[in-house]
Amino acid sequence: DQNEITSVVSTHVLETPDFPSEGVLFRDFTPLFCDGSAFARVVDLIAEQVTAKGGVDLVAGIEARGFLLCAAIGYKLGAGVVPIRKAGKLPAPTVTESYALEYAEATIEIGPHAVNKGDRVLLVDDVLATGGTMVAAATLMRKLGAEVVDSWVLLEIEALGGAKAMQAADLTFNTAMT
Ligand code: PRP
Repeated sequence: DQNEITSVVSTHVLETPDFPSEGVLFRDFTPLFCDGSAFARVVDLIAEQVTAKGGVDLVAGIEARGFLLCAAIGYKLGAGVVPIRKAGKLPAPTVTESYALEYAEATIEIGPHAVNKGDRVLLVDDVLATGGTMVAAATLMRKLGAEVVDSWVLLEIEALGGAKAMQAADLTFNTAMT
């Protein structure tokens, strides 16, 4: 259940103060990915919840650590997986979506044949911070006619307002920990 997901994830996170800049606590889930039984347990429990809500056709993971999660969760669900890439990694034609960062703009993209109209899609990533990346990923999916049914992250950094951004875009999300 949700308590077990929280307990396994929160005991497998590496916290590094002042990275990448002073005052920022960097949280990295390498210890979870490296621990075979912990990772399998979290993937199984997330997949159970997704199935209980009606399942999905595709699991889309956001570069880079979202790829690890989406492949495992997709395999468990018997769903397809689709990588959402940072700009410039894929040959044209791609479908792209840009969004604002604090001092710049970021672009994500996917190949045009990755998604079919009407596909039920789950979005996954390691961290929800401002929500900019996740909302842009959902916009990409919607541009291609897919239905974003839910999303999962391992960590929501509550102070950065991701929950509000997700709600404003009419998106739901689940997190292992805050
Ligand atoms: C991090 C994280 C999410 C995104 C969340 O990725 O993995 O993808 O930021 O931030 P947001 O909610 O404010 O959009 P990062 O840019 O560090 O890229 P990486 O995963 O390739 O290292």
